[in-house]
Amino acid sequence: MSRPAVTVSVRRADPAKLDTPLLAVAVGSPAALPVELKAVDKALDGALARTLDRKDFRGERDETLHLTGGARGPARVLLVGTGKATAPGVGIKRAASIAARYAQRAGVGEMTWLVPGADGAAVEHSATGLMAGAWEYRDLKTPPPADERRAPLRAATILVPDERQAADALAAGTAIGEGHSLARRLAMMPGNLCTPEFLADTAREIGTQHKLTVTVLGRPELEARKMGAFLAVAQGTAQDPKLVVLEHRGGKRGAKPIVLVGKGLCFDTGGISIKPAEKMEYMKFDMCGAAGVLGAMDAIGRMKLPVNVVGIIGATTNMPSGDAYKPGDVVQAASGKFIEIINTDAEGRLVLADLLHFAKQYEPAAVIDAATLTGACVIALGNTASGVFGSDDALVAEVLAAGQRVGEPGWQLPLWDDYKELIKSDTGDIKNTGGRAAGSITAALFLKEFADGYPWVHMDIAGTAYSETDLAAIPRGPTGVPVGTFVEFVRGRAS
Ligand code: BES
Ligand code: MN
Ligand code: ZN
Repeated sequence: MSRPAVTVSVRRADPAKLDTPLLAVAVGSPAALPVELKAVDKALDGALARTLDRKDFRGERDETLHLTGGARGPARVLLVGTGKATAPGVGIKRAASIAARYAQRAGVGEMTWLVPGADGAAVEHSATGLMAGAWEYRDLKTPPPADERRAPLRAATILVPDERQAADALAAGTAIGEGHSLARRLAMMPGNLCTPEFLADTAREIGTQHKLTVTVLGRPELEARKMGAFLAVAQGTAQDPKLVVLEHRGGKRGAKPIVLVGKGLCFDTGGISIKPAEKMEYMKFDMCGAAGVLGAMDAIGRMKLPVNVVGIIGATTNMPSGDAYKPGDVVQAASGKFIEIINTDAEGRLVLADLLHFAKQYEPAAVIDAATLTGACVIALGNTASGVFGSDDALVAEVLAAGQRVGEPGWQLPLWDDYKELIKSDTGDIKNTGGRAAGSITAALFLKEFADGYPWVHMDIAGTAYSETDLAAIPRGPTGVPVGTFVEFVRGRAS
């Protein structure tokens, strides 16, 4: 299922004596030579100290400098800047990712990673970052001839003062790294391979691996539950829609669970309100919410977090066909509300409407949904921050703080009733779109109508789950968001 690209381990060793093809070192700003590198510097006749003295490397965020190593010890030394220590963990994760990407491109096969003065948190962030940087999607590429092939990064070793003390941090960091990698792989897989059936199978595998209970509902079961909103979206596709539930019972028996909900549109053509051809291929990423839930459940199961967590995904494709739902149709959601369809491209909120209503039976302590819901959110916040909405201010703050700690920032947008005017329907109870103005807010307000009876937060990850252009630490494509936020939130509830 998820084959990790790189194996990360920890080791206590003197970097100067290491027979490694690449020693990468995190250096903050302003840059100073760490004691751990004194012997390496000596072996290089003081080249490191002179480099810093001459300000050829300042330790700024994302800055890198490659030096050739000496006759003995590390063959190459790479300095990676972490910048000013505002959020040190996040800076280390980012730098580790840049280092592993560098190693991957250089084809060195293995690398050593040093964070001077590393504590447990640094080891954890390093492991997650190294895995993120090494991640590539190569499943559908014919490998080049053997003599032209560069060695993929197989192993990354983090230098630590005490191997046993670092074991837990390593385990946590790699668990999150695995979750990220899984989410990114699912996202990158094209729509003809990553089908609702495939997502369901992946959930079953996660369940088997980590002893989670997995339930898969198909079209007949959705019909029995009167999920008219979800079914309307799935009406135009021959593929069987899947509602998948994964239950991790790590907490006290009877303790209310955290419920994570994900939009899983394996492809979104827009349906009868069809999207323009240009860039439509990116809509294979419209299942990143679901991929985030699966990646998080994988990590949570692997870490055996002492919390009850339920993951729910709604997987289907939005297709135009003779049977497809159409503008003007009125459908009845599982909650009983009548929804007037204005635009069949506003499909995610219809799927989520029935999932959020379905979530209520678990008597959740909190529900967090993640969805690539609106283009408007990309316009508002770009690829940097997810849109965060909720009626429970404490829960919103908790989700924002969790995202901040792992370098997946969110930004709150208002859910004021004033905007509700925009989605009033003449024919039914509510319309599925409110026009272009405040598009992310009206989408979230629509969801709120169905998120009844529990504290709830919605994350619009349309801009953050994938990027069309290269980002500093992550190449273009899927980013792994919101796996980190989900896992960090759940960990926060565990302690
Ligand atoms: N999946 C899209 C949102 C999206 C757009 C995600 C671009 C990532 C990048 C969603 O289903 C959609 O089509 N939303 C429409 C809503 C509109 C019809 C009210 C949109 O954003 O244009
Ligand atoms: Mn759409
Ligand atoms: Zn969509």
